[in-house]
Amino acid sequence: MASKLWEKNVTVDHDVETYTVGRDREMDLYLAPFDILGSLAHITMLQSIGLLSQDELTRLSDELREIYKVAENGDFIIEEGIEDVHSQVELMLTRRLGDIGKKIHSGRSRNDQVLVDLKLFIRSRIEDLTIAVSRLFDTLITQSERYKDVIIPGYTHLQVAMPSSFGLWFGAYAESLVDDLIVLQAAYKISNRNPLGSAAGYGSSFPLNREMTTRLLGFDSMNYNVVYAQMGRGKTERIVAQAIAGIAATLSKLAFDACMFNSQNFGFIKLPDEFTTGSSIMPHKKNPDVFELTRAKCNKLQALPYEITLITNNLPSGYFRDLQLIKENFLPAFDSAISIIDMVNVMLSQVKVNEQVATDPRYELMYSVEEVNRRVLEGTPFRDAYKQVGLAIEAGEFSPSTSLNHTHEGSIGNLCNDHIKALFEQTLSHFDFDTYHRAYKNLLKR
Ligand code: ARG
Repeated sequence: MASKLWEKNVTVDHDVETYTVGRDREMDLYLAPFDILGSLAHITMLQSIGLLSQDELTRLSDELREIYKVAENGDFIIEEGIEDVHSQVELMLTRRLGDIGKKIHSGRSRNDQVLVDLKLFIRSRIEDLTIAVSRLFDTLITQSERYKDVIIPGYTHLQVAMPSSFGLWFGAYAESLVDDLIVLQAAYKISNRNPLGSAAGYGSSFPLNREMTTRLLGFDSMNYNVVYAQMGRGKTERIVAQAIAGIAATLSKLAFDACMFNSQNFGFIKLPDEFTTGSSIMPHKKNPDVFELTRAKCNKLQALPYEITLITNNLPSGYFRDLQLIKENFLPAFDSAISIIDMVNVMLSQVKVNEQVATDPRYELMYSVEEVNRRVLEGTPFRDAYKQVGLAIEAGEFSPSTSLNHTHEGSIGNLCNDHIKALFEQTLSHFDFDTYHRAYKNLLKR
């Protein structure tokens, strides 16, 4: 029996098969539940345009719903010798229902099938990402509020600059996540369009009802132009990868700060012992390996959009097998991102901050601008005050007052965390996941 959907009377060379299938059988497991949902929508539409009878639709749908349960439980397998998830599902239907199973592929191609699978996968994983990001955001805001009065030096050029605080430090990363979430939302919107019906990339002579599959799968709209729908392969993944990379950039910066602040030379934060790792030779070591790996993992995630760019860079329009390779880098990226976010969340909720940092005389110079400003308020022109304080510092006669009075928006004394929280929640509320949940519920109910 031919094991390929497309095999006719020549059997493909074994090595060629191994080479072309590559890791696709493993990667397609990520897509299995979504492939089944896509097929449920497709066959419902096929029945509506007379390509399947009501009875055929009922029998096919019942089987697909059974297979969906298996996939949801993580028990779906792609058998030895079966090329991909699309072939496996069709094979299972044909085994169980005979010739009816062979009818489901009318009016589509694996090209639009994998496209729709990817879009459904992306929607669901972006939802998971937003949940993880929200948890981390809440922790950052909580810690910012808790430690809003703990002063630390701020740095420029890694030189002591001006007073900062743990309130500012935690809150800065919270606000960074707001913007990362906006980018993620743009990626979500671009992903939330239906490519099904573009078939191999040029549509079909069947009168497909694309409006119907768009609605059945809970998409915002379709990708109208069939050639553009196919062009979305690679482009969609790249845009989503850019959004993931944005979050990763925020967290790798945070991770570097955390490693640095945790060093004895700074001593700003301390990780609980159980969150540090030891050395095989130096008995005193308590290393921040978690943040070091966070940094490296985030850097790997930031490479993802470039990897996708390079795979797709010089391809003209139309489908090419090159696109298959994106899956290997792209599909596992969500698990990676979510595990990083969750780990950073745990670390930051347990971290101990040193409340006495600012009392250390080596940071005295961070108050230089405070002193200049005090003199300005007393009537000295800024440039003169600047010079007076500068000369006092040079002469070793600078002994500043450590009182601080920062009141403007976003400063030490006025963090505006409520506003930051409102921005985050406003962005979050513009994600619409309910529509697709409702659509799936309808497709899956008998
Ligand atoms: N595994 C393929 C991919 O991910 C599925 C599409 C196959 N299409 C084809 N024309 N060979 O791209």
